[in-house]
Amino acid sequence: MNSAPADPQTVADAAALLQRGDLCAFATETVYGLGADATNSGAVLKIYETKGRPRFNPLISHCADMEMAERFGNFSPLARRLADAFWPGPLTLVVPLKPDAGLSDLVTAGLDTVGLRVPAHPMARDLIATLGRPVAAPSANPSGKLSPTTASHVRAAFSGAVPVLDGGPCQNGLESTIIAIVGDTVTQLRAGALAREDVEALLGHPIALAAPNAAITAPGMLKSHYAPNAALRLEVTAPEPGEAYLVFGPAPAHDGPVLNLSASADLREAAQNLFSHLARLDASGAKSIAVAPIPHTGLGEAINDRLERAAAPRNR
Ligand code: TXA
Ligand code: MG
Repeated sequence: MNSAPADPQTVADAAALLQRGDLCAFATETVYGLGADATNSGAVLKIYETKGRPRFNPLISHCADMEMAERFGNFSPLARRLADAFWPGPLTLVVPLKPDAGLSDLVTAGLDTVGLRVPAHPMARDLIATLGRPVAAPSANPSGKLSPTTASHVRAAFSGAVPVLDGGPCQNGLESTIIAIVGDTVTQLRAGALAREDVEALLGHPIALAAPNAAITAPGMLKSHYAPNAALRLEVTAPEPGEAYLVFGPAPAHDGPVLNLSASADLREAAQNLFSHLARLDASGAKSIAVAPIPHTGLGEAINDRLERAAAPRNR
């Protein structure tokens, strides 16, 4: 890439970057996205290059509203029910693609489905509405690394090479929950900021979970993902001296750097702090980060999912 333009100061400036086929990172309520005009293949290609992302992984197309989403995806009554209940918000719906609607093939990676989401962050929606087209955006981090929840995370991750529309710290701090709707079957492909229980409460029945080796694989489903540089040990109640310690709830005394995901043991607060606390402990220089046990219920499902992937053996 050429040297990056300065950070856009307004939504209009950011939309102009996207309009001319450049990338722009922007805040959503989940994590920062690395955005490109989803109808411009040249622009979308820059996302893959910048992230160092495997080509076969499809991208989420962010829409300003349901009307825009319906231009690109076919919504069954079931899909519409989920969209009505949870959009705008941290839910990505994978639905059949409208093939002639103009979305770049690089966005869907040649699949006949499309991942669509209407984000809740007002600046994100304003940006997409100003562009007038969907914005393709993966999380704004190099492939396999921690997801960014502040503008400065994004600048650090790409050494300032990507312009960032600063929308403050992300409210949820965890990526969207991804749900595929095929016929009458609803499958959670990735746990995320919308708890599965909330989806099941709406539908009135349990939903399927994607098999670990499902044909449609989200990169969030690769075993080693969201990885800090330090090694990670999970469910630790007695950390080693000198080890960094990421705790949840009342903090025990520890000889080493300690950060608390939520002193009051609130899973929402923990989700919001997860990636930024991991990044800070990583930056402390500790060789290993011990993580206290975190409940597996509600948002704890997604938090533990990210931690397990971050702790998985790495082969990159
Ligand atoms: O919260 C989020 O979802 C953030 C913000 C920026 O919106 N985005 C994000 O994007 O996490 P990314 O690219 O890191 O993860 C998107 C996931 C990928 O794992 C991809 O495989 C999956 O969505 N995905 C997209 N389209 C799909 C499709 N048609 N079928 C199956 N999975 C799909
Ligand atoms: Mg990601």
